[in-house]
Amino acid sequence: MNRREFIGWVGVGSLASSLPLVIAACSSQTNSSSTTTSARTDGFQVAGSISDLDKNGQLFNEESAAGKVLVIKDPGNTSKVIAVNPTCTHKGCIVGWNKDQNAFVCPCHGSKYAIDGKVINGPADKPLATYTAKVEGNEVLVKGS
Ligand code: FES
Repeated sequence: MNRREFIGWVGVGSLASSLPLVIAACSSQTNSSSTTTSARTDGFQVAGSISDLDKNGQLFNEESAAGKVLVIKDPGNTSKVIAVNPTCTHKGCIVGWNKDQNAFVCPCHGSKYAIDGKVINGPADKPLATYTAKVEGNEVLVKGS
């Protein structure tokens, strides 16, 4: 075996021996992210933290595994949380919680929705989709209803 052949074998050997490490690294990243986004055995998904909800008065997660979700504390019982899909049923803008009006309000054409997602004022004529929501520790959890 001459020098060129030897270097070629070492290069192929290095590549072949590092390939399983590269595959393992990619696999573990895939597994860890799928763990954080997959449904728990009870079907709930993490939408965010209670500390973020407390800080901002509402918690919007556009990419939760359950879908777009807006969580607020129940004004009638602040130990409970309420979650809706904030996509306005009129033309798809994102509604926000307006504490003073005690309603979800759409910034585009003014539709208002009650805390349970029902339409208070149009032009929207269909309710917001809702989620079952709860708090565990510092996590806000939601599940499609
Ligand atoms: S998109 Fe919300 S009222 Fe029109």
